[in-house]
Amino acid sequence: MPASTHLPAISFQSITKRYPTPKGVARGGQAGGGAPTFAALDGVSFDIAQGEFFGLLGPNGAGKTTLISILAGLTRASSGHVTVLGHDVQTDYAAARSLLGVVPQELVFDPFFNVREALRFQSGYFGVKNNEAWIDELLEGLGLAGKANANMRQLSGGMKRRVLVAQALVHKPPVIVLDEPTAGVDVELRQTLWQFVLRLNREGHAVLLTTHYLEEAEALCSRIAMLKQGRVVALERTSELLKSASSHVLRLKIEGELPPELAARARVTGRSVQFPAQDARAIEDYLAAVRAAGVRVDEVEITKADLEDVFIQVMGEQREAA
Ligand SMILES: Nc1ncnc2c1ncn2[C@@H]1O[C@H](COP(=O)(O)OP(=O)(O)OP(=O)(O)O)[C@@H](O)[C@H]1O
Ligand SMILES: [Mg+2]
Repeated sequence: MPASTHLPAISFQSITKRYPTPKGVARGGQAGGGAPTFAALDGVSFDIAQGEFFGLLGPNGAGKTTLISILAGLTRASSGHVTVLGHDVQTDYAAARSLLGVVPQELVFDPFFNVREALRFQSGYFGVKNNEAWIDELLEGLGLAGKANANMRQLSGGMKRRVLVAQALVHKPPVIVLDEPTAGVDVELRQTLWQFVLRLNREGHAVLLTTHYLEEAEALCSRIAMLKQGRVVALERTSELLKSASSHVLRLKIEGELPPELAARARVTGRSVQFPAQDARAIEDYLAAVRAAGVRVDEVEITKADLEDVFIQVMGEQREAA
């Protein structure tokens, strides 16, 4: 672990990333030459502390992977700076890269290696020698021990993802970046993976996680940033975010369809509908409105708002503001 504990693990400073838009649909301003551009990231700034477990959330296309690509040095920012434990990812690339372990969202692998060879190769890339004990621990911890000699081509999607996680951790980086590590991964591996990552986090490794499983983010992350259309729209401790939401949620299972004005205020998943409710009065009003609409209610439940409720609320507020 680095000596200077005051340095942020990761510091994003006014990151903007523009892409030319093929159809000339402008968003987020004009580039120097006056050509229309699209801002995938628009002035993103925040720090992640050493040892922190940080969640980066946002809908599809919000800019999460773009931000991580810039952090990993795979894409250049149009403007702004990123540092990893004080090392600029552009001007001090090798140092910054060696401090990072990145699990990419896309499954990329070398088809000619078996699992153990892939991990040895990655070790060599980072100049780590005599790494067999840690490689064995990774294989064991990520449920890959039985697949150590299997060729990468022979692995299922979920197993390839486990190998990507192992590869990212092979040099024991102090800063771990996971871009949707549990997409397409079964329940058992998710648990194994989180146990393993939590252990590293307890040992002092910082973790930056993106996920669409908001219950995972709620359980794991002490602080969360929400991105929408390339901008940070929320940045807070998870506990504060949860407090800021409507305190309760009325969950109903219904037969039939809600009238549009009610549906617009609910989160609808098939027959299950959820209304955000500040107090008992709001709950009574919703129940009365549903009854007045002639919709049959099969089940009623009142629960505390969770991160998914907060997420929907924050994204909704942004939509109204826009
Ligand atoms: N090479 C590129 N050229 C043009 N536009 C791009 C390029 N890469 C990404 N984008 C656009 O930038 C935006 C952000 O994409 P990004 O992959 O960062 O989103 P994301 O938040 O990771 O989404 P997801 O949750 O689907 O993974 C999207 O609108 C995407 O289409
Ligand atoms: Mg992504």
